[in-house]
Amino acid sequence: MTGNELRAKYIEFFKSKNHQEIKGKSLLPENDPTVLFTTAGMHPLVPYILGEPHPAGKRLVNYQKCIRTGDIDAVGDPHHLTFFEMLGNWSLGDYFKDEAIRNSFEFLTSPKWLGIPVEKLSVTVFAGDDEVECDETSASVWRDLGLPEERIYFLPREDNWWGPAGQTGPCGPDSEMFIDTGRDACGPDCRPGCSCGKYFEVWNDVFMQYNKQDDGSFAVMDRKCVDTGMGIERTSAILQGKKSVYETESFVPLIKAVESVSTVKYGDSEDSDVSVRIITDHTKTSTMILGDERGVTPSNVGQGYILRRLIRRAIRHGRKLGIEGKFLGKIASIVIDMYKSVYPLLDEKRVFILSELEAEEEKFLKTLQKGEQEFDKLLPNLMKGTKRIIPGRLAFKLYDTYGFPVEITEELAAEHGFTVDREGFDKAFEKHQALSKQGAEKAFKGGLADHSELTTALHTATHLLHTALRTVLGEHVMQKGSNITTERLRFDFSHPEKMTPEELRQVEDIVNKQIERNLPVTMEIMELDKAKADGAIAFFADKYEEQVKVYTIGDFSKEVCGGPHVENTGSLGKFRIVKEQSSSSGVRRIRAVLEK
Ligand code: ALA
Repeated sequence: MTGNELRAKYIEFFKSKNHQEIKGKSLLPENDPTVLFTTAGMHPLVPYILGEPHPAGKRLVNYQKCIRTGDIDAVGDPHHLTFFEMLGNWSLGDYFKDEAIRNSFEFLTSPKWLGIPVEKLSVTVFAGDDEVECDETSASVWRDLGLPEERIYFLPREDNWWGPAGQTGPCGPDSEMFIDTGRDACGPDCRPGCSCGKYFEVWNDVFMQYNKQDDGSFAVMDRKCVDTGMGIERTSAILQGKKSVYETESFVPLIKAVESVSTVKYGDSEDSDVSVRIITDHTKTSTMILGDERGVTPSNVGQGYILRRLIRRAIRHGRKLGIEGKFLGKIASIVIDMYKSVYPLLDEKRVFILSELEAEEEKFLKTLQKGEQEFDKLLPNLMKGTKRIIPGRLAFKLYDTYGFPVEITEELAAEHGFTVDREGFDKAFEKHQALSKQGAEKAFKGGLADHSELTTALHTATHLLHTALRTVLGEHVMQKGSNITTERLRFDFSHPEKMTPEELRQVEDIVNKQIERNLPVTMEIMELDKAKADGAIAFFADKYEEQVKVYTIGDFSKEVCGGPHVENTGSLGKFRIVKEQSSSSGVRRIRAVLEK
C-alpha cells in the first residue's frame, strides 16, 4: 500500500466514524514562537485542544506535513527523516480512551482497512509514576479487544508520555502501537520501543489531560482530548514489507536521481548509502520549506538557518559522492512532481524553489573554497602549538563566519594530523542555537504571541479598532497584518496617507465608547459564504476552511477570526493609540495599548 493509498484509507475510515476532514497547516507554526517548525499534526490544533471550539466540530481528521530537526544529525541511518507526513485524528472533548483505542484497533486489523494480523500487534501503555496513575483503562480496552497480556507493555514516562509540541501546552499519557517485523529479538530485553528494528511503531494515541505551564508544572485540563498520530512514510513502509522508509516510493525516485548524477549505486556501501539518504532527505525537506505557504529562504537565523544547514549538508554529501556541479534542482524537481497532487503550491512555487536552491549551492561552493583558504591561513599558527587540537571556538568561527561545516574542518584537520575540540565546538554551537531560537521569537510577525488574558483582550480591541478605522476613514481600510503581544497590539491596514490627529482621536473615542457599552462578544460557526453575506469582515479568504468562526461584538463588529476573544468589551480598560506611522507604501501601522 503506497503512502497515498494509506492517506486515503485513513481519511475515509475516520470520516465513516463521523470525523470532519480539516486542512493541514503550514510547516512554520503561526502561533507558537517557541519552536521553529510544525512537529506534529496536533501542533496547529493546540488552541482547540486547550478549549477553543473548532469550527469543524469535535471530531477531526487530517494529514499534516511535519519537520523534526532535533535529530538532523541522525539522518543517514535507514530510519530517520526530517520531513514526514502525519495522519491524525482528534477528539476535542468528545470520545476518550475507549473509542480511540477501538478505532485504532479496527483500522489496523480489520481486513476492510489495513488488515494487519492481530498476532503481529503489540501495544504499550503508561505505567504510571508519582504524578499520574498507571493507565489501566487503556490496558483493559486492549485486553478486551483480544490483545494477550504479554503483548501489552507498561512503560514509564520517557516512553509513554507525549507532548507538549512546543515548550508549553497540552500533553498526556499515550498508548503506542507496534508491528512485529518477525526479525529476531536483539536480546532478552527487546521490546516495543527498542531501537534494534524488530518492532516498528505505527501509531500513537495520546490522551491529552494536562497543560504544561511556563513554570514547568502540569495543570489538569477541564476537557479531555484525544490526539493521535500515524507517520505515513513509516507505516506504508511496514505495510509494504520494507525494512526502511528509503525503500518505498517516497524515496526510490529520489535515490535514482542521485544515482544518475553520481557514480554510486544505492546498496554499494554503507558509507555512500548514508550520503544518499542524507541528500534525499535533506533536499526533500528543503523543497518543502521553500515551497511552504509561509516559506522562508536560507539565512543565518531561525528557520532560515535550519534550511541553510539542510541544503549545505546535502551539498557536502554530494561532494563526498563525487558530484561536482549543482545537482539539488534535479532532485527537488522530482520532489515537486511526487508531491504536487497533495501540495499544489509546490508546483506554483517551482521556479522560486529551484532558483533558491541554485543560489545557495553557488554560495556554498564559494564558501567551501573560502573556508579552505581560511583554514590554510590558520594552520601555520596551529602548527606552532604543542597540542594537535583545533580549539572549538576556532572551528565554530569557521562555521559561523564562513558557513564551513565542522565535519569539513575535521576532515581537513585530520589531513594535517589534527583533531577538533568537538565539545568546545558543540558548546559554542548550542549557544548560537539558543540565540537562533530567540531570533525566531523576534521574527514572529503575525497573529497572537500567546493566548493569555492580556493578549486576548488586545485581540478583541483589535477588532474594535478595525471597525472604528473603517467608520472614520472609509471602507477601503483593510487589515494587512496584526501582531499582538501581552503588551500592545500592532495593526497594519491599507490607507493612502497619514492619519490626522483628529482622525486618531475619533477612532480612539469610538473604540472606548464600545468598551463602555460593555458589548457581548459572541461566536458562531458558519459557512464562509454565509459569513460574508452577513457582512462579516473576511480578508484572508484563501486561508479559511469552508466552515469558519465568526466573532460578533454587539451591534458594532463582525469578523471571521479564529479567536480567542474576551466575553464582554467592558473588561478591556481604556484604549489608547500610542503611534501611527507608515508601514509600507499605502499601508499604515497603529500601535495601541489598553490601560486599566
Ligand atoms: N502528537 C502525537 C505524536 O506526534 C500523536 O506522536
